[in-house]
Parts: sequence; structure tokens; C-alpha cells
Amino acid sequence: AAQAMNVTVIGTGYVGLGTAGLLAHLGHQVTGIDIAPDKIAQLQRGEVPIHEPGLSDLLAENAERLSWTSDYSSVKEADVIFICVGTPPGPDGAPDLRYVISAASSIAHQLGEQCQVIVNKSTVPIGTGDYVERLLEELAPNFSAAQHLVVSNPEFLREGTALHDSLYPDRIVLGGAAKALETMIQLYAPLLEQNFTPPASTPRPEGYTRPATVKTTLQSAEMIKYAANAFLALKISFANEIAGLCERVGADIEEVTTGIGLDERIGHRFLQAGLGWGGSCFGKDTQGLISAGREHNYAMPILQAAIDINYRQRQVIVEKLLRQLKTLKGKRVSLLGMAFKPNTDDLRDAPAHDLIERLHRLGAHVTAHDPVAMPRAEHEWSHLSYTPARDLDHAFARADAVIIVTEWDDYQHLDWNKLLPTMRRRLIIDARNTIRQPLDHMLQATVKQVGRSAPIFIQSVQTVSIVK
Ligand code: UDX
Repeated sequence: AAQAMNVTVIGTGYVGLGTAGLLAHLGHQVTGIDIAPDKIAQLQRGEVPIHEPGLSDLLAENAERLSWTSDYSSVKEADVIFICVGTPPGPDGAPDLRYVISAASSIAHQLGEQCQVIVNKSTVPIGTGDYVERLLEELAPNFSAAQHLVVSNPEFLREGTALHDSLYPDRIVLGGAAKALETMIQLYAPLLEQNFTPPASTPRPEGYTRPATVKTTLQSAEMIKYAANAFLALKISFANEIAGLCERVGADIEEVTTGIGLDERIGHRFLQAGLGWGGSCFGKDTQGLISAGREHNYAMPILQAAIDINYRQRQVIVEKLLRQLKTLKGKRVSLLGMAFKPNTDDLRDAPAHDLIERLHRLGAHVTAHDPVAMPRAEHEWSHLSYTPARDLDHAFARADAVIIVTEWDDYQHLDWNKLLPTMRRRLIIDARNTIRQPLDHMLQATVKQVGRSAPIFIQSVQTVSIVK
């Protein structure tokens, strides 16, 4: 087993809480710091301020190794200090570093005399690690370049599977000086060797062995995070761009991505055509790279195209609807799904937001349904014109069209026999290509998907025959 270390985690948002829970589970003594007193009070009472499967259990199971405070003095004793604060995009798309700067300044005044590693886990612009180092040097009375070392250790977790992603990662990326990386390797030893007991909520996946470790410089580690997200965003936009041409030439995107994904150099993942990405990361990180390029007078046309295609896709769906209904004036259009992806109530940059705006502008009466995000939408989307659907019956009743916006499981088991006949017009725009049954045939419904020109019951991924 690893030697227990003293760890301080600054920021109790998404990344901070996951990091604190993970490190406590690996056997370390962790203090979580946040400047928001209400969050700290909540955590001290054993409540978790965010929704992430398994997280509250993980924090409860490891409560003896976790404490919460607004006081930075624990930094003095820490072997490793994690900065896990937010970096929201500023007005020009570049990340706003004010929280990173204020965390680094607070750390500076509490640095100890011993060797300490300061880890940046927030997604920060390339060069921030260097900047934090200079800030500490300037502000810390105790600063010693040999003792106080800055590391970049980006996370790659997805919302909804954050614990799984942090316990069983593909790789651990560490950037910084050799001595600091040694400390990080010790800190993560149980993770790297996978000799911890998996939490009940998040078992080790079958076949998983251990993560790879990438040891590199600060700048490269910072770049790896951005480049990974930008590449995934690019794959999605690529699939969407090809999908548009598939429709025009009579090809089927589901079969095409199945066909190209079998090339191991390409792979199947992140090639699902549909409404494109949303959420807090892909838009922000691709934009962040472009603005970094701009600072150096360096154009990044591939990334710009990925962004343009992503947001064009929202209009593509509106046009599919217009082609069927001719005009949207007075038409009742229902959206299934508001969260940016299934299994979260996160509404940030969700395609549903744009769709509601555009459809309303075209004169439609919009109704929207979501299995979990409706209460949140009531606050965050109060500026939008739509009627929240009480339930699925309400969403379908007298609708001129239903658009499947988010591929929630709930929408994969719809009782079509019951719901379709309640519509004014049996038109379904399946913007995530989730429907796999022959609705057209059985129930005289019109189903339009993305990148598929033929009626869907003729072709589907399940019917593509792959002969090996
Ligand atoms: C992402 C990255 O996956 C993660 O590594 C990074 O740390 C943060 O950003 P997240 O934003 O939680 O995580 O969402 P993810 O599950 O990756 O999905 C992103 C979006 O892409 C969703 O809106 C999803 O609907 C969309 N998507 C994904 C597609 O449209 N097609 C695909 O093939 C895959």
C-alpha cells in the first residue's frame, strides 16, 4: 500500500470533489477548501452540493480521511496541493483565470518550509503552470524554487461517469520537474498499480488492468488536455459533416461510421452523428485553443470548422422540420430532452436551448420534456418561451412534431402505439438517430433522422452485416 500523504484540494466543484474523494479512497488524508461558506457547511453536514453518481457514497465511505474548511492554513502541512477551481470562458472566449490566480495567491501566503507540490487540475491555458510558479515566487515569503514545484495533471472525466473515469483512467498525464513527478507517482501509486479496493458504487471494469503514465513538461501536459478534447470535438463534427452529404447522395451515416470505425486507426467512438456536442468542455476548449492561436497570430482553421459545423447542426434540425411542416407558425413542437447529454441535469450549451429559441422565433409553440433537468431549467431557462411538459403524454398530445434532442434511455422505450395516435401529425425528428424500430411502416409515422435518406426500418446498424 502507498504511504499516506497530506493533501489539500482547493475548490469543491465537480473536479475538486472527485479528486478529494479519489485521493481519500486511495488512503490519503485530504482537506477540501472552498471560499463559499455554504458549500463547506453542506459538506461538513455530509451533503454533496453536486449531482454525480457514486460521489456521495465515496465521500461518506472515506469521511474519516476527509475534512472541509474555508481556512487555507492546512496548506502549510500539505505534501500536495491541488488547484481545482473553475475557469469559465471570458467575453472573448479565452478562459478567465481569476479563480486560479486567487487560489494561487492564497496558497502563496501559507506555503510551508518542506517540499510541496502544487498541482493544476483545472483546464487552464497553456503557460498557466509557469505563471502560477512566478506568482508563488513573487508572493510567497517561504518560496524556494527547489522545494515548491508546480505540476500540471489534467483530468479527462466525463460528467455522469466521473468516478469511473478517475478510478480507471486510460492514462495519467503529469507535467513538471522530475522531482515533483516522483511525488505524484507516489501519490497515485495505488491507482497506477490498481491495488485499491474498488468502491461498491464503481466496480473495476472487466479486462481493465492499469493506466498508462505520461511524464512530460508543464506545457505539453496542458496542451494534451486541450488537444484531446479538440480531437473528440473534431470527430463528432466530422461525422456530422459526412452525415449531411450522406443524406444528399443516398448513403446512410450509421452504416458509414460502422464501416469506417472498424479501421482500428479510426475507431467507432465519438462518431455518432446527430445534434453535435454541448456541455461545458468541448465548446470552451476548442474556443480556448483558437484564442491561444490568435495570441500567437496562428490560425487554426480545422478547429474553427469543427465549431461551425457543430452549431450549424442545430439549424439543420430546424430545417428538417420546416421541410415537413412548411411553416411553424402556430404549430406545436415538442422537444424530448433538454440536458446536453443523458444522465445529467447539466444544461450548459445544450442544443435544446438553441432549438427552443429558433423554433419560438419561427412562430412555433414549444413544449419541452426531460427526465431530470426540468427543475433546473425552470431557473436557468426562465428567459426562454416554452411550456414544460408534465410527462410524455403531455409532450405528445396534439403535437405537430416531436424532436428527440437528447438520447435518454427513457426515450428508447417509448410506447409508440399509445403516443403516436395522440399527435396532431405523426412526425418525429430523431435528431440523435436513436430509433431502431420500423415506426414508419407500422404506425404511418414520418421519422426523419440525421444522415439517413432511406426509411429507417430498411437499414439500421443492427442489420449491417459485418463478415469477419
Ligand atoms: C468531455 C470529455 O469527454 C472529457 O474527457 C472532458 O474532460 C470534458 O469534456 P463531457 O462534456 O462530460 O466530457 O461529455 P461527453 O460525454 O464527452 O459528451 C460530449 C458531447 O458530445 C455530448 O453533448 C454528446 O451528446 C456529444 N457527442 C458525443 C456526440 O454528439 N457524438 C458522439 O459520438 C459523442
